[in-house]
Amino acid sequence: MAVSIIKEEKTKMGKMISFANQKGGVGKTTSAVNIAASLGVLGYKTLLVDLDPQGNATSGVGVAKKGLKFTIKDVLMGDCKIEDSIIQTEFEKLSLIPANMSLAGTEFDLLQEDTPEPWAVMRNAFASIKDQYDYIIVDCPPSLGMLTMNSLSASDGVVIPMQCEYYALEGLTQLSTTLGHIKKRYNPRLCMTGILLTMHNPRLALSVQVKEELLRHYGDRVFTTAIGRNVRLSEAPSFGQPILYYDKRAKGARDYLAFAKELHERA
Ligand SMILES: Nc1ncnc2c1ncn2[C@@H]1O[C@H](COP(=O)(O)OP(=O)(O)OP(=O)(O)O)[C@@H](O)[C@H]1O
Ligand SMILES: [Mg+2]
Repeated sequence: MAVSIIKEEKTKMGKMISFANQKGGVGKTTSAVNIAASLGVLGYKTLLVDLDPQGNATSGVGVAKKGLKFTIKDVLMGDCKIEDSIIQTEFEKLSLIPANMSLAGTEFDLLQEDTPEPWAVMRNAFASIKDQYDYIIVDCPPSLGMLTMNSLSASDGVVIPMQCEYYALEGLTQLSTTLGHIKKRYNPRLCMTGILLTMHNPRLALSVQVKEELLRHYGDRVFTTAIGRNVRLSEAPSFGQPILYYDKRAKGARDYLAFAKELHERA
């Protein structure tokens, strides 16, 4: 499937970016899927990695969760070569390493005594393919467990999607502390690429207040692009399509394309 958008020219090699927030339902998967598809449309060779047993990013790009030969679980457990787990999606320059419920026990398996550096399994597994892509986008599960730790230990940057609500600010303090620990102990390269406001509604006073509070605390770490609430974004996954393919004229498609450009400038 092709979408006609003018391609960017410059490329940067092998950037791995985690989309992480321990809070559930904040737009991690919607953002990971749509940013990955947007980067592909802009001409960047992109690999989307589903690191959540819910497998929402997998179905979100039209890949059935059942009957998969290999998943990210097999990669992390050393049961397949990483190349064999990669699926070419029907979308421009977008590949996928899928996940399904089989990943649910992997947090526990990674912590077994015979894994010497359980947080570094993903980094080691991806080392051989990292530079074959311009971007590797990881959709993390809603927790700060061993799967998310692996992703953050392997990544160059982290994007924190968050909804403009009061509790989000409290969760962000905890997440910032965790990021600090990971950077210090496991991955000094890790940068907080930025905070992405999702399901934003500028007409709601709370949305505006939370945004102001974030800007006060995190300044230019807050992306200029905010993703507005858009019903087409919530419909697209049931058709297994990123928004740019489902309805490229939707506000959500414009928002994620603008965000892809901003991310590329920053990453
Ligand atoms: N900008 C948006 N406008 C409207 N609906 C949205 C938007 N972003 C996400 N949603 C919807 O909100 C719900 C949660 O989004 P999503 O699944 O991306 O969050 P998540 O953080 O990945 O959740 P989980 O923590 O369970 O993995 C979904 O139903 C999704 O379709
Ligand atoms: Mg998700």
